Amino acid sequence: MRLSRFFGGGKPDEPDSNSAPDDESVTAEDEAPESDDLEEVPEGDLDVDLDLQWRARAADVIPGGASTGSKRADALYGEGTTFGPTHFTSASGCHITTPGGRTLIDCTMALGSVAIGYADEAITRGVLQAAASGHVSGLSHTSEIDVADRLCDVIPCAEQVRFMKSGAEAVAAAVRIARTYTGRSKVVGAGYFGWLDWSSGDAGVPAATQGEFSRVPFDDVSALELACERAREDLAAVAIEPVVERLPSREWLEAARRMCDAYGAVLIFDEIKTGFRLRPGGYQDYGQFEPDLATFGKAMANGFPISAVVGRAAIMEAATKTWISSTLAGEATALAAVSGVLDWHDRAEVCDSLWRNGEEMASAVRRAVAASGAESVTVGGVGPMWFIRFGAPEHESRFLEIALEHGVLFKRGAYNYASLAHDEETIIEIERAASTALVQLVEELGR
Ligand SMILES: Cc1ncc(COP(=O)(O)O)c(C=O)c1O
Repeated sequence: MRLSRFFGGGKPDEPDSNSAPDDESVTAEDEAPESDDLEEVPEGDLDVDLDLQWRARAADVIPGGASTGSKRADALYGEGTTFGPTHFTSASGCHITTPGGRTLIDCTMALGSVAIGYADEAITRGVLQAAASGHVSGLSHTSEIDVADRLCDVIPCAEQVRFMKSGAEAVAAAVRIARTYTGRSKVVGAGYFGWLDWSSGDAGVPAATQGEFSRVPFDDVSALELACERAREDLAAVAIEPVVERLPSREWLEAARRMCDAYGAVLIFDEIKTGFRLRPGGYQDYGQFEPDLATFGKAMANGFPISAVVGRAAIMEAATKTWISSTLAGEATALAAVSGVLDWHDRAEVCDSLWRNGEEMASAVRRAVAASGAESVTVGGVGPMWFIRFGAPEHESRFLEIALEHGVLFKRGAYNYASLAHDEETIIEIERAASTALVQLVEELGR
């Protein structure tokens, strides 16, 4: 076991206490006081340095500083930046509290995995009840069947369901099912499917594995057709993320369907982002276009770890002819969270509210852009998934820094996500922070 190495807390004694610790040069041994009782400031106090000290401590014990790539300091705020909190201690609604005592409005909503709001009372109660009742055993929990049935009711293509823990696992399972069903190996894909080998071109992935996957751009009919025609009778699946920054053209979806039908391949929609957000049943529900298999995760469980691959029974049956299994796939706490989310969607038009809140958040930032006169800053996206794009990365970093000082965490280089908790008052705060940040940025650039 490694020794505990962390910055004990409080403001460092040095006069320049506002400067960020340098991840490379400052080691815990240099700085860490003996005591381990100052990891958070007392309620009401604010200690921005403490937030930075957590970043340094994380870099020491976790390669890259975070187990989730998009939560690394560089990913949050830009390469080489030294500002901004990387860790939180509590979250409620759309607000997060940092160890240094900052309260921020979160526009990132845990990378879209939370749509109802953090620490939702009803969902949390269900999860706690499941834990208290004993949520795993040598047998499967009955809630696995209940939740699978309920998913089949709301997802158009779902006749059967298999649960997994992460989005990446669900998509990998869908591809394994498609390969088993067709007896083929090649996959054509458009989108991000998680970190696993089958779709990755990253270091450590064997060339032979990479050779089985062909990546094509979003909404490009001829690239999709060409890749499928190359694979021909080796084509097992076309896997697509149906919404990337904008809705797809009908023509592209029809081309994907046509290619799959022509070569006997399986059409997979990756609905990890779109499920329970655009509509409960994802894009296929919104756009009325059914794939053969689909994957769900993120908002399906409001931040609890569970995902699902769903689809036509005749194809899903292939899951029994290969090996797809995970010890805790059907544990009952995350299933209780899915059940709580389904209850929410049963009693309210959750997705309508997400669209409205998302559009209002994006409009608020658009107004701030217009008022500031900032050039080359644009706001795009689809309803509940929207983004801000900057002409230069350093402008984006500076915007994020000032917005944080005014209480709002925006997502760098990717989607901001609406939740039910982003109410009118919060959206006014978002506009105020964006406006202040953009005006200041424009002023600094003009100097
Ligand atoms: C469309 C899509 N598929 C798959 C994944 C991977 O999910 P996870 O990070 O839960 O493994 C993501 C994650 O962002 C995603 O957006």
